Amino acid sequence: MTANSNGQPQPLENDRLLKALARQPVDRTPVWMMRQAGRYLPEYREVRAQAGSFMDLCRNAELACEVTLQPLERYPLDAAILFSDILTIPDAMGLGLYFETGEGPKFRKPLRTAADVASVSAPDAERDLDYVMNAVRTIRRELNGRVPLIGFSGSPWTLATYMVEGGSSKDFRHIKSMLYGEPQALHTLLGVLATAVTDYLNAQIRAGAQVVQIFDTWGGALSTPAYRDFSLAYMQRIVGGLIREHEGRRVPVILFTKNGGQWLESIAESGCDAVGLDWSTELHEARRRVGHQVALQGNLDPNVLFAPPAQIRAEVERLLKSFGVGEGHVFNLGHGISQFTDPDHVTAFLDALHELSPAYHQ
Ligand code: CP3
Repeated sequence: MTANSNGQPQPLENDRLLKALARQPVDRTPVWMMRQAGRYLPEYREVRAQAGSFMDLCRNAELACEVTLQPLERYPLDAAILFSDILTIPDAMGLGLYFETGEGPKFRKPLRTAADVASVSAPDAERDLDYVMNAVRTIRRELNGRVPLIGFSGSPWTLATYMVEGGSSKDFRHIKSMLYGEPQALHTLLGVLATAVTDYLNAQIRAGAQVVQIFDTWGGALSTPAYRDFSLAYMQRIVGGLIREHEGRRVPVILFTKNGGQWLESIAESGCDAVGLDWSTELHEARRRVGHQVALQGNLDPNVLFAPPAQIRAEVERLLKSFGVGEGHVFNLGHGISQFTDPDHVTAFLDALHELSPAYHQ
């Protein structure tokens, strides 16, 4: 399901996201939510219980497609995001991913030494991650042009944090020991991951992903020079290696470094089309600093969705005003939606956005 037989791109019923990413005029601000498919939805919990483990769900193309589409059945969203996880790459590299309830992801074989690092290589995405490409193709077929499909990957740095720590971490003790003590070993690992991520995202694009986002969830834990050398440099390498046009359309790239607001100018210079922002950066500031170069995505604090609808609406209005009139804004949360969110509060959020945002696109 790529192009029509005449080679034309499949028409998109709703191309607001692609327009906004290209900073072209739209009738209202497009919106999607990070982690929009997930545990806050009762229908997700039902399919998840059927599937067995979380990775069983990711590996089943039909079920992964079903949960990808669930938020679109409920809400007027402008994009679908592939249901998968950033840790599929290290899993395919043989680190033994598993999920411990309440404790998040873990690896049986973390990489702690230069010798551990030397023992791993980039997986072949088409072969070793074929279940992800099957899910992408299935979702594209079922979406049938309703909205664009976003593919994604973790950044090399963010993947490396899980691979070296062996799971989630608060202090990044092991990976920072490697960064400061054995920087060459870490550079070797990040180089392998940059190759792996480029190959993985290009395979997703060939399978039908129309936009890709790189999640650099832990870039903000680095010093400024370390961010430049150990995170941004590798994302830049990836952006340079991606397929930028497919099915007759540009494939935009969104870079999201959580807590990366202080490095906006450098991120915008990476060659990406858009920068994702968490709530610690003001949209008007970001627009002033880099808005001539890239689109901006964000940045509602997901915790706002715990407040009553009137407060949610006020915060949506504040963010629309902050970006101001004009093009190049994709509305999103500043990080993933919490599993404890009331689905009706998401309705309130989107109702407010759809009512208020047309005034910013005259
Ligand atoms: O956005 C979407 O709807 C697409 C799906 C998606 C998931 N993970 C599904 C998921 C995406 C884009 C991710 C990315 C991801 N995974 C990131 C980067 C984004 C971010 O939030 O910073 C990270 C750091 C991970 C690693 C990971 N996977 C964590 C920390 C967890 C949570 C573990 C837990 O038990 O809370 C996961 C598991 C995971 N990935 C779930 C979902 C819906 C929950 C698993 C379940 O259903 O039991």
